[in-house]
Amino acid sequence: MIDKKIAALINEQVNKELYSAYLYLDFANYYADEGLDGFAHWYEIQAQEERDHAMMMRRYLIDNGVRVTFGAIAKPDKKFADAVGPLKAGYEHEQYVTSLINNIYSTAFETKDFKTMQFLDWFIKEQGEEEKNAEDLLKKMELFGHEAKGLYALNGELGARIYTPSATGPAM
Ligand code: FEO
Repeated sequence: MIDKKIAALINEQVNKELYSAYLYLDFANYYADEGLDGFAHWYEIQAQEERDHAMMMRRYLIDNGVRVTFGAIAKPDKKFADAVGPLKAGYEHEQYVTSLINNIYSTAFETKDFKTMQFLDWFIKEQGEEEKNAEDLLKKMELFGHEAKGLYALNGELGARIYTPSATGPAM
C-alpha cells in the first residue's frame, strides 16, 4: 500500500497525462486544418505517448492496491495565431508537467516512499527528454519555419516520426 497523499497525487497525474494527450490531439487538429500533416502526425504520436504515461501510472496505483478514480478531462481551449503557437504552448506545457512530476517526487521523498521514487525515476528522465524535444522543435521552427521551403522540409521531417510504446518504462 502506498501513502494516501501520494496515491491521490498520482491519481491526479493520470488525469493530467490524459489531458496532455487531449491537448496534443487538439494541436494535431489545428495542424491538420492548416494542411501541415507532418506536424499533425507528430502530435498524434505525442498524444499516444501521453496516454501511455497515464496507463503506466494507473497500473502502478492498481498494483499497489489503490482504487483509481477518474475526473473530467479539461477542454483544450488554446487559440493559435500561427503555426509556431502550438510549439510554444507545447514547450510550456511540458515544463508545467515536469513541475507536477517533481512535486510528486518530492512528496514521495518527504514520506520516505522509496518505491514511488523509483517508479518516478523513469518519468523524471522522460520529462527531461520531452522538454528537450519540445524546445528543439520550437527552435527549428523559429529558424526555418518562416519560409515555405523550410516549413515544407520540417513538415516532412515531423511526418516521419514513428511511435514507440513506452514499454521500457514502469510496468504497463
Ligand atoms: Fe507525460 Fe509529456 O508528459
